Amino acid sequence: MEEEFKITPEEQEVNKKKITELLMSTNRPGMDRLLDWITNKTDFFRAPASTKYHLNCEGGLALHSLHVYQRLSEKVAQGLITIKPETVIITSLLHDLCKVNFYVKEVKNVKEGTKINQFGKEVANWVEKEVWGIKDNFPVGHGEKSCCYIQNFIRITAEEYAMIRLHMGPDKNVYPDPFSETAKIYPSVVAIYTSDIESAYILEEKQ
Ligand SMILES: [Fe+2]
Ligand SMILES: [Fe+2]
Repeated sequence: MEEEFKITPEEQEVNKKKITELLMSTNRPGMDRLLDWITNKTDFFRAPASTKYHLNCEGGLALHSLHVYQRLSEKVAQGLITIKPETVIITSLLHDLCKVNFYVKEVKNVKEGTKINQFGKEVANWVEKEVWGIKDNFPVGHGEKSCCYIQNFIRITAEEYAMIRLHMGPDKNVYPDPFSETAKIYPSVVAIYTSDIESAYILEEKQ
């Protein structure tokens, strides 16, 4: 999908402030150090949320994290599920922390429509374009990596670990599937999974 959606530097600043305030409001010991790392050692507040799908623009990861926070908070407010407020904040805002220092800007030849060549034939029109690529220096997995980064600074509960580790949903190639098994103990893994896909595939698809 061609994305021209942009998040202005001012909007990025507002999102950064919101995320910082929400995370600090949890009073989780070590959160100040985690935030210091996120702010000063990573590109969390500037990174895109994906290379070419949802919110593949600067500041996309922070906005996506806020969308998941909103979706998950709504499920709690509607009475669908009970999750502690600090758990909602920590899991939703940090579920994709694995995406920090992960996306890089690259120049690639991409097809942009067609053109007529010197023989009068219609051929693909290749142009140089700046796109997002991936450089994964720590390829240990998605939710796994988020948990690892977070646990370098703060302690998380078993439920928070489960929600972040399994936020991508069921793994169809594994039996018994850890997602389905864990959902019987912590239904909140289902709530964060649906919040994530609702944000990525419905809310952010429109932008
Ligand atoms: Fe994710
Ligand atoms: Fe996500």
